Amino acid sequence: MTKQIQFFDTTLRDGEQTIGVNFSIEQKVELAKQLEAWGVDCIEAGFPIASKGDFEAVSAVAQAVKKTCVTGLARARKGDIDACVAATAKAAHKQIHVFIATSPVHRESKLHMSKEQVLKAIKDSVSYAHQFFEIVEFSPEDATRTEYDYLCKVIQTAIDAGASVINIPDTVGYTNPAEFAELFQYMQKKIPSFAEVTFSVHCHDDLGMAVANSMAAIKNGATRIEGTVNGIGERAGNAALEEVAAGLYVRKDYYDAVDRIDLKKTKAISELISRYTKMPVPHNKAVVGANAFAHESGIHQDGMLKSPQTYEILTPESVGAAKTTLPLGKLSGSHAVMTKLRQMGYSVEREDMQQIFPIFKNKADHTAIVSETDLREIMEKFEKVVS
Ligand code: KIV
Ligand code: ZN
Repeated sequence: MTKQIQFFDTTLRDGEQTIGVNFSIEQKVELAKQLEAWGVDCIEAGFPIASKGDFEAVSAVAQAVKKTCVTGLARARKGDIDACVAATAKAAHKQIHVFIATSPVHRESKLHMSKEQVLKAIKDSVSYAHQFFEIVEFSPEDATRTEYDYLCKVIQTAIDAGASVINIPDTVGYTNPAEFAELFQYMQKKIPSFAEVTFSVHCHDDLGMAVANSMAAIKNGATRIEGTVNGIGERAGNAALEEVAAGLYVRKDYYDAVDRIDLKKTKAISELISRYTKMPVPHNKAVVGANAFAHESGIHQDGMLKSPQTYEILTPESVGAAKTTLPLGKLSGSHAVMTKLRQMGYSVEREDMQQIFPIFKNKADHTAIVSETDLREIMEKFEKVVS
């Protein structure tokens, strides 16, 4: 049966944990409106207890968006939850996100709490939050480094206390797709209420697998994906939501899932985040990088000219990017050079290319990209040879 996948955007919270990034309230409001238009289901606007500014930003976002659910983050503490209640008071749709760490290293070194104490904190905080929020999302921080049997107890405790969304954070980007799939299969067997709640994942990119891990989770029972635009976030960042959206779109056959993302708005939201974070998008970044739809080698360019499906699994138009380009360089072939010359208005035939192409190659060997000005010079040389 086709699954509905929810997108939970944490660009404004975990994304803001990127070193050097600090959104103003006005920027958060504008970004939230654009994220709503992009089609995300839930916006995590900040951590209300963290600062007056974050509280005000969550409150402003809560009032600015109308269709999308707004959430704030809270530790498993009454004060954090009260701050979330107040910050989201005017939201049309809201939820709360409560978390506590559950792995041995976090319990022992950071929280100085026993397993039983953590379970009690979960029970108390989730049931307290549930008095104010119909939807309580609970996250066992560092879930993937938590003992699996204990993790299942943690999750059942949160569900019994009123959580209807369980988020599994791979807080330090430790897992891999195969292992994450096994964890989901384990939880499905061991947690009696698994099917009664929404399972979400929140993957970090320390080993470059955040998107792959998220996709593996979708295949194994998760129906909500947390991440950020351009993959910004703490350390190496979070799962890039535009990559998850494109992955679900391109591989509908495999995932059998739908979502509410308006893919055509993807490039625009990526550019806006890049501008506000002052973080350029790497040229080779999947889906939204400047080179994502550019082909340089002769074999690839020849294939693209014969059928775009040879080397593109996604069209630039589908994500709102500029048209495919075939930049000319030393690896380009004569088919692409001839096509470009014709586009520029030259009436060149295949046989002309026998003389033009060596002049082109000579130029290309000494420059990264052969420009239109270079091509005009090449044609002047060619015309002199033939006249
Ligand atoms: O990475 C993490 O574990 C988090 C939690 C607060 C969900 O950001
Ligand atoms: Zn995180």
